[in-house]
Amino acid sequence: MAQNDIVDTTAAYSSPNASPLTLTSTPDTALVAAAKALTSARYVVAMTGAGLSAESGIPTFRGDDGLWAKFGEPRMDGYKRFLDDPHGWWRREVTQTQDPYVLELRRALEQAQPNPAHHALAGMERSGVVKTVISQNVDGLEERAGLTRLIEVHGNRSKYRCIGCGRRTPRDTFVPPAELPPPCSECGSIVKYDSVMFGEPVPPERMAAARAEIDRADCVLAIGTSVTVRPVSGLLWIAEAQGATVIEVNPNETRLSGVCDVVVRAKAADALPGLVSLLSAGT
Ligand code: OAD
Ligand code: ZN
Repeated sequence: MAQNDIVDTTAAYSSPNASPLTLTSTPDTALVAAAKALTSARYVVAMTGAGLSAESGIPTFRGDDGLWAKFGEPRMDGYKRFLDDPHGWWRREVTQTQDPYVLELRRALEQAQPNPAHHALAGMERSGVVKTVISQNVDGLEERAGLTRLIEVHGNRSKYRCIGCGRRTPRDTFVPPAELPPPCSECGSIVKYDSVMFGEPVPPERMAAARAEIDRADCVLAIGTSVTVRPVSGLLWIAEAQGATVIEVNPNETRLSGVCDVVVRAKAADALPGLVSLLSAGT
């Protein structure tokens, strides 16, 4: 497996021993600490995961309420299976006979609207507090909430992407041809969803853009991610190793919690609007 291939590292996880430098016990105190860290930082980069969209009705992947708990963990060779038989993959797509977890996720994605956490994050971008968001989500809700400096490392389900030339096409302007798998109109190669499959390399230009932002950051805000899926999760460790202040917003412990400077143990849709209020009150 190549370095940039998307891979779940949950199995390799063991709980960290180190305790956070400033683990504040109640969300309110933690929020104040987070607001202070954000205002004293020069360049804040947020990294988001499925938890950001939980209040939009999109199930997370991992955790007790997650898709894996309900349907079992999917195979990690999705991209290989796509390449082995793209025609079969597209046939399952057209006949809506993909894995049950994919169908459930898709139903949720189709109805989802940005929630108060997305809007609060967009407000933090507008006010200049957050410079860039590196998102692992494919739901497009951050863009719909108005975020502009957004790197969707795992792609966007509302788009198609050619595996040959990388051309992205919005789904609503793409006319599926009679022929499957759909050929790219630019280069004739195969079109798939823009979302990155397990075992598929994250497009290198997206990883490079995300890494460049992490290298600029003196503070990272990790929101609703289990920090388990490489290579993106590694960026948070790089930020931490480079001395950035690390803030986590997550109702549950993650492998990152032990090295965080501030941990806000709350749902994103509660914590982020609270943070925005504190920031606008000048905390
Ligand atoms: P996970 O499902 O692994 O983790 C979701 C995280 O959100 C967990 O740590 C939860 O504790 C937390 N969480 C749950 N509810 C929350 C809430 N209301 N507010 C804040 N946090 C909450 O999701 P990711 O870390 O995003 O890849 O997973 C990474 C990648 O794995 C995804 O991008 C996806 C998947 O394979 C692709 O789709 C390509
Ligand atoms: Zn192409």
